Amino acid sequence: MAVISTFCKKGGVGKTTFIGYIAHYYATQGKKVLVISVDDQNSIFRIFGKEDKIFEESDNYLEFLMANVVEMGDVLIEVRPNLHVIKTLNTDKLSMKLTLERSQEKVIKKIINEYETYFDYIFIDFPPSSSRLTEVLLDLSDSIIIVVGLDSLGLNGFFNTIQYFVDNDIDLNAIKYIVPNGFSLNRRAPKVSLDKLKEQALEFTPNAIVLPPMKDRSIVKNLQSDGVSVYDQLEDEAKRMTAWDVSNRNLLRDELKELFDEVKI
Ligand SMILES: Nc1ncnc2c1ncn2[C@@H]1O[C@H](COP(=O)(O)OP(=O)(O)OP(=O)(O)O)[C@@H](O)[C@H]1O
Ligand SMILES: [Mg+2]
Repeated sequence: MAVISTFCKKGGVGKTTFIGYIAHYYATQGKKVLVISVDDQNSIFRIFGKEDKIFEESDNYLEFLMANVVEMGDVLIEVRPNLHVIKTLNTDKLSMKLTLERSQEKVIKKIINEYETYFDYIFIDFPPSSSRLTEVLLDLSDSIIIVVGLDSLGLNGFFNTIQYFVDNDIDLNAIKYIVPNGFSLNRRAPKVSLDKLKEQALEFTPNAIVLPPMKDRSIVKNLQSDGVSVYDQLEDEAKRMTAWDVSNRNLLRDELKELFDEVKI
């Protein structure tokens, strides 16, 4: 039972990709896994080719659960065996509610506690924007994983994230891992950024482990545009994917496995 969040105050750095893949990896290991999307884009569904589920049954959002209109089982959407996702409607609205009504904080804590009795892992996928809900959920996370893009904007994202934690009095020690994303062997800039990130991590989050970087691989985008997860076993793989894509997918799978095995959560 652990609540794990991926966070970064910069968009498009790979938070949802990382969380979707690690969640699926644990699910393939027989763990019961829940991903709560608090990003109203609900882009986690795209990773599993389940976009149609976002608009299906419009009362099955986290907000309706919080309002006590639906039950805990109603909002669980199965995207793979052992892997469920909860979608969110509008974080700003929810945030306003939380600001207005402190009792809503208790409600979300109670919901998470109850899910914890059933799921082995609860992952929370955040948008880069933050709200009162962000603080509440980060506060109750056992581990926070910061995903950082390896370019200058990405590094700003890391710095802004630290600033956000400090400004909102969120415990920096809860940051257990930092995942650099977008590494490339052939380009100098990501390597320089990685060195800078390691320096900054040492200064601001000395207890966090900087994981080996995720490489910039076009297969990630290809898979996501086809709604295929890296850990899917497709029976008609040879028909649906080129040999080149299959070999790159296998490479990505191995790289990610190595990365995920370093994460102790
Ligand atoms: N290692 C990678 N190699 C290539 N493409 C990647 C990689 N990681 C992520 N991407 C692509 O980058 C885009 C953004 O990724 P993702 O949605 O995971 O980021 P995010 O941080 O969750 O974004 P947001 O801030 O909008 O929630 C997606 O199109 C994804 O396919
Ligand atoms: Mg995202």
